[in-house]
Amino acid sequence: MAQQIILSVEDVHQHFGRFAALNGVSLQVEEGRLTALIGPNGAGKTTLYNVVCGRYRPRAGRVVFLGRDVTGLPPHRLCALGLGRSFQITNVFSRLTVLENILVPLIIKNGGALCFWRRLDRDRKLEATAMKVLAMVGLVDKAHVGVHELPYGDKRLVEMAIALAPSPRMVLLDEPTAGMNPEETEHMIRLIKSLADTHRTNFFITEHDMKVVFSVADYIYVLHQGSVLAQGTPEEIRADRRVKEAYLGGSLEP
Ligand SMILES: Nc1ncnc2c1ncn2[C@@H]1O[C@H](COP(=O)(O)OP(=O)(O)OP(=O)(O)O)[C@@H](O)[C@H]1O
Ligand SMILES: [Mg+2]
Repeated sequence: MAQQIILSVEDVHQHFGRFAALNGVSLQVEEGRLTALIGPNGAGKTTLYNVVCGRYRPRAGRVVFLGRDVTGLPPHRLCALGLGRSFQITNVFSRLTVLENILVPLIIKNGGALCFWRRLDRDRKLEATAMKVLAMVGLVDKAHVGVHELPYGDKRLVEMAIALAPSPRMVLLDEPTAGMNPEETEHMIRLIKSLADTHRTNFFITEHDMKVVFSVADYIYVLHQGSVLAQGTPEEIRADRRVKEAYLGGSLEP
């Protein structure tokens, strides 16, 4: 039976002035198939994510999410439809505790306003949900620690938890292991795999670290100079001559 298409990017063009950052990109993310987007620096990966998550309205083309044309919808509308994302540069509320960071998206999802004159953790039901999300990423012990006190790897886990909190159908992760040490990277790889397997979270990730890509991805798209250069299983991508050339021969080996 054919798998459901979660995300379909159709012939998307994005320009910055006269520069074509995306030049007719088409790709799909299927339910249950952990999909990665790779490519050299400046290939257009983050730009494509910004188009998918509604930060940019493309000059041409469509973004279809769960069967619905969402091209140009603002990020908060896409989030409400089930699209989560984490950023290439860590994006958390440093002055709040870990738990409060997870409560923010839950309160917003439940239609509540953020009232900073009262404690964020007043609602016990939401707090219980937030603790479940923290358990998913292994941060229960640090629930009441200020995010600014955490090591870098844990901050990225908080970011992942913020993306997971509203129970999204798909999560975009832009370089989830960027800047991590080998131990933190290993932990993140295990986490992504287990969330995909156990919680059936659909991930669409970009990543420079080929060890990460080849160990987590079921399917890979290679972006080069704003166009899809190749697509296939990790084995097919590893063997693709054009891909090797695009990476100038070195970094494809995990
Ligand atoms: N807001 C912007 N204004 C102008 N040019 C931009 C803007 N954002 C990206 N670009 C350019 O578009 C191209 C693609 O950038 P993008 O950040 O999408 O690449 P990337 O594949 O994510 O790279 P990296 O691997 O370094 O994160 C680059 O040449 C970049 O300089
Ligand atoms: Mg990028």
